[in-house]
Amino acid sequence: MELQGLRIAITGGTSGLGLALVRELLHRGAHVAFVARTREHVERVAREHPGAFGIVGDVAQKDDIYPIALQITGRLGGLDVLVNNASSLGPTPLARLGDTECEDVELALATNLLGPFRLTKALLGALSASAREGRGAVVLNVSSDAAINAYPSWGAYGASKAALHHMSRIWNEELSAEGVRFLSLDPGDMDTPLHALAVPDADPATLERPETSAREFADAIAAALGDRVAVIEHREHST
Ligand SMILES: NC(=O)c1ccc[n+]([C@@H]2O[C@H](COP(=O)([O-])OP(=O)(O)OC[C@H]3O[C@@H](n4cnc5c(N)ncnc54)[C@H](OP(=O)(O)O)[C@@H]3O)[C@@H](O)[C@H]2O)c1
Repeated sequence: MELQGLRIAITGGTSGLGLALVRELLHRGAHVAFVARTREHVERVAREHPGAFGIVGDVAQKDDIYPIALQITGRLGGLDVLVNNASSLGPTPLARLGDTECEDVELALATNLLGPFRLTKALLGALSASAREGRGAVVLNVSSDAAINAYPSWGAYGASKAALHHMSRIWNEELSAEGVRFLSLDPGDMDTPLHALAVPDADPATLERPETSAREFADAIAAALGDRVAVIEHREHST
């Protein structure tokens, strides 16, 4: 299950699951680049994790995508694994669709669907090259059970995650024969800033640690690279 020497990029790598993935993947010997919007946080995480390369960028902004992609491939010398993890909840406090501004839906779609789509497209050449060289290639799109279940007041987020999940399945149908595999995985309810924003009164003791989900995701990446059939699954009872 080691990921020694693999070149892995993670969006949203300064908090919650993304930060736990940066740590887990470094621990397993991967070369890691990560992306987030807040420069101060990117610089802190890079300083605290020698070997991890920080990139300041916003995946929801079209003009940021190629600069992000170029920094990833330039720094890592190619790419074997992309983790589309950065996410927007849409309106907070969460609101019913009738009370949701169109701009909030646009932001959720730009961050959770268009961002991963654009970044994947921008990095597809590097991923395909990795697959052709026999290193394998995986794109892990971070999903949610809100992609499957119709939770009231989770409309913007849920619709964007449902679209991302379905797009992952189509990507996988189109590209797995060429060796580029797509995973769409739900990390479960985790004790993170995003969860606290969505469900402020949740008891953190009932939530998963992001480190646990990061370990499971690292195992899933290793399994997919190990020429196993891509797993597209969801758990119950998570945001
Ligand atoms: N927490 C849960 O219970 C739960 C459950 C199911 C699924 N998920 C999914 O798990 C993933 C991680 O969630 P989390 O709870 O770990 O979130 P989190 O703690 O809020 O961290 C989000 C990270 O993404 C970055 N980010 C946000 N928007 C960005 C953008 N437009 N461009 C680049 N970076 C951006 C943030 O940094 P900046 O703000 O500085 O950009 C931060 O590093 C998400 O896809 C979420 O939907 C979470």
